[in-house]
Amino acid sequence: MNFHVFTLFPAMFQGPLSESILKRAQEKGLLNVSLHDIRDYAENKHRIVDDYAYGGGPGMVMKPEPVFKAVESQLEWIRESQTEPADVPVILMSPKGRVLTQDVARELARHSDIMLICGHYEGVDQRIVDYLATDEISIGDYVLTGGELAAMVVIDCVARLGAGVLGSEESTSRESHTDGLLQYPQYTRPPEYRGWTVPEVLLSGHHARIDEWRREQSMLETKRRRPDLLEGPEEPFHRGIDSHESQY
Ligand code: ADE
Repeated sequence: MNFHVFTLFPAMFQGPLSESILKRAQEKGLLNVSLHDIRDYAENKHRIVDDYAYGGGPGMVMKPEPVFKAVESQLEWIRESQTEPADVPVILMSPKGRVLTQDVARELARHSDIMLICGHYEGVDQRIVDYLATDEISIGDYVLTGGELAAMVVIDCVARLGAGVLGSEESTSRESHTDGLLQYPQYTRPPEYRGWTVPEVLLSGHHARIDEWRREQSMLETKRRRPDLLEGPEEPFHRGIDSHESQY
């Protein structure tokens, strides 16, 4: 799985990518993250990548030219290096995007190449949204200082779904959100800690009863903490990665 990230702050990605599962996935050749500094694509002498908003207002807006140039040169490179025509989502990280869920992560994990554009300042020029991005993703209903942390969240949750990235002991099959429910409580040794005991059934060795208890607990946890998950999916407006409004 190849992520192509377009950012003004490539150094922000070093920490998360150089630890744990993402580090191992890169070493095994299962994950590749290429970081592109948008400033390198600015044509003006001072490498300016932002400008005042037409119509006034506070804050600066990211200019279209360097972002188009950066993304288009990578798309070109992917096209030239692949024999099959590549279906590459060009995702703008934005608080206005469709909200990232496990279903969205699964949908993205089907692609071999994914582009992530990290917005900054007060926003990006709308022509990037309309004619370059094929999708916009938000990681939640709050506003970050920029799209970098959001892009890292996308990389983390999509990459771990890739074949071979998690070992069998780290399988995704029983975790929260996989079957629309939250995960059941987990316990490990000791069987008693400060007088708090592990539920008897888990010590019983009786697999059918353990499975039943876990199913029940998943349902109870979900009802108590996230009843909205039991109500079925809403269908909010989003463009989706297949509605290619852009030229790609
Ligand atoms: N950029 C700023 N806030 C964001 C959010 N919530 N999700 C994705 N990108 C963002």
